[in-house]
Amino acid sequence: MNPILVIGATGTVGRQVVSQLIAAGSPVRAMTRNPDAAKLPPQVQIVRGDLTVPETLDACLDNTDAVFLVWTALPSAVAPALQRITQRARRIVYLSAPLKTPHPLFQQPNLLRSMFEQIERTVETSGAPWTFLRPGMFAANALLWWAPQIRAGNIVRWPYLAVPTAPIDERDIAAVAVRALREEGHAGAEYVLTGPQSLTHSEQISTIAKVLGRDRVSKKSLPAKRAANSSPSARSPPSTCSSMPGPPPSATPPTSHPSSRKSLAHPQNPFAPGSPTTSPPFAREAKGQSHRAERPRPVVPCRAI
Ligand SMILES: NC(=O)c1ccc[n+]([C@@H]2O[C@H](COP(=O)([O-])OP(=O)(O)OC[C@H]3O[C@@H](n4cnc5c(N)ncnc54)[C@H](OP(=O)(O)O)[C@@H]3O)[C@@H](O)[C@H]2O)c1
Repeated sequence: MNPILVIGATGTVGRQVVSQLIAAGSPVRAMTRNPDAAKLPPQVQIVRGDLTVPETLDACLDNTDAVFLVWTALPSAVAPALQRITQRARRIVYLSAPLKTPHPLFQQPNLLRSMFEQIERTVETSGAPWTFLRPGMFAANALLWWAPQIRAGNIVRWPYLAVPTAPIDERDIAAVAVRALREEGHAGAEYVLTGPQSLTHSEQISTIAKVLGRDRVSKKSLPAKRAANSSPSARSPPSTCSSMPGPPPSATPPTSHPSSRKSLAHPQNPFAPGSPTTSPPFAREAKGQSHRAERPRPVVPCRAI
């Protein structure tokens, strides 16, 4: 059996894809720019590759069965890298964004959107079987946006408190990716993936505080313009949530997708007790709380579009 190549293997979703592929019995090749720092399981074949240096991709792609593609490099690197990937890959599962969801948040024109569309067009017209994953907000964004403020004190300043999202756990995105990489029947599918529950960012912060036993955590609205000059975590949405443009305060809620809700149904929201998103990174200052990081994870991908 040829290995499955995971591009972005050391990232939030890629790392989960790697472990779930191993658990499913697939040989895995992980691409990283820095193998020495990859910290991946010993069964994984680690290869050096850089999306901005296209000639490094050939050896990574040699004799692979399928490719999981996460793109976080610059738009200028798309064409040469995608040419190589699409020429050699036998199947491509691309971690995209909900570009076709008829919601103002996902319909704003911006550079990242254009880049995603360019990648999708190239993949679609390549002739290789493809599957697009379209997750909404990652639950893991909370680690970047709010964890530093919660660790540092009792006030979370945030510009988008009223904006609802249905955060999805990266393990669920990975579970869908693994099925699309290993199984027949997903070619040409575009899966919109959300968490089970739509919550405003204010509600998400409150849930995290409650789970941590931090009743004194309060939220303060930060004008969006000031957020740009504020702490790195407070200005994260536009700059680091790469496929998710900073939500305009007036946007209609990006609620959970009905079919995702059915198939990724968790009993609680992703920040509830037991979620790894909530526990270790926030819990450092929690008083005597202990949190478990296991929960059953039956996942069936949904054909949403
Ligand atoms: N955050 C959200 O809410 C959200 C929602 C929907 C979609 N998305 C999309 O999800 C993707 C990000 O996924 P993620 O959070 O799992 O990624 P991530 O944690 O940011 O990791 C991306 C990985 O890509 C690798 N990488 C970066 N530049 C590279 C290059 N030039 N060549 C090769 N590899 C490179 C890095 O690995 P090495 O350093 O080891 O090379 C890194 O581990 C983005 O495309 C984003 O738009 C995000």
